[in-house]
Amino acid sequence: MKITVVGAGAVGASSAEYIAIKNFASEIVLLDIKENFAEGKAMDLMQTSSLNSFDTKIIGCTNDYYKTKNSDIAVITSGIPRKPGMSREELIGINAKIVKEVSDELIRYSPNVILIIVSNPMDTMTYLAYKTLGIEKRRVIGMGGALDSARFKYRISEALSCPSSDISAMVIGAHSDKGMVPLTRLATRNSIPINQILGHESIEKIRHETKVGGATLTSMLGTSAWYAPGAAVSSIVHAIACDQRKIFPCSVFLDGEYGLSDIAIGVPVVLGKNGIERICEIELDKIEKNMLGESALGVNKTNEILKEMKII
Ligand code: LAC
Repeated sequence: MKITVVGAGAVGASSAEYIAIKNFASEIVLLDIKENFAEGKAMDLMQTSSLNSFDTKIIGCTNDYYKTKNSDIAVITSGIPRKPGMSREELIGINAKIVKEVSDELIRYSPNVILIIVSNPMDTMTYLAYKTLGIEKRRVIGMGGALDSARFKYRISEALSCPSSDISAMVIGAHSDKGMVPLTRLATRNSIPINQILGHESIEKIRHETKVGGATLTSMLGTSAWYAPGAAVSSIVHAIACDQRKIFPCSVFLDGEYGLSDIAIGVPVVLGKNGIERICEIELDKIEKNMLGESALGVNKTNEILKEMKII
């Protein structure tokens, strides 16, 4: 299993590290535009292999897409991260062009690759890749929901003073501060609905903290977070590479599912060797449906900018 990670910045390097540590891939190619940067990160990571007991070979390269040839899965983290106070949507002007170029190059050398999109605004970048590449929608997967759900579980576990492994919970909708839809009604601690063990106020606090999860860290770190994004990427890549058929909420192009069309947005999907094996249409209540509809309107607005930029 050959995996490419484009962008050796904090999120890309962290993704490569977690993928390597899980020891399921034979090779990771880490690619960056900055001269010798990915080579350095790859060498540093390879020097952890005896300590962390992994056999995955990590190779770094400077913009040499030939080295990514015949990748099974490729992760796109390229572009600029947000700075404190910025929304993910503000990155579109720079990142759209970069994601378009990177995805074209990846497909040129790996026509059957499954793409994982991380660059922001993530739902719009997933839409862009799907619309411009002309490949099956099962092969274009936006990572945001897996990350947002991990942050949601963290906040619930914090409120309940329990390990997050006890929590089952999911965030659907856009990977944006306004557009995330944490499904509090369906969240459980070991099968116990959280609304039976937490008060309304605590649940609303969890909802809010989950939605601004990325922004909170950006203001603390001065740039966007990387450990949880890298861990979310590695879990998605693992599920596909090992045909786990696990459910993650991911951004995927919709053709009528959830009453939405011509949009990529976060919904639960089964991940396996073909990428998206199935979109799971769960029953939402009226409030959740409205929130998802609002979220989709926000994504559509950002997608419009791609048309104004004449990139799609
Ligand atoms: C975040 C970035 C990766 O939410 O979007 O941390």
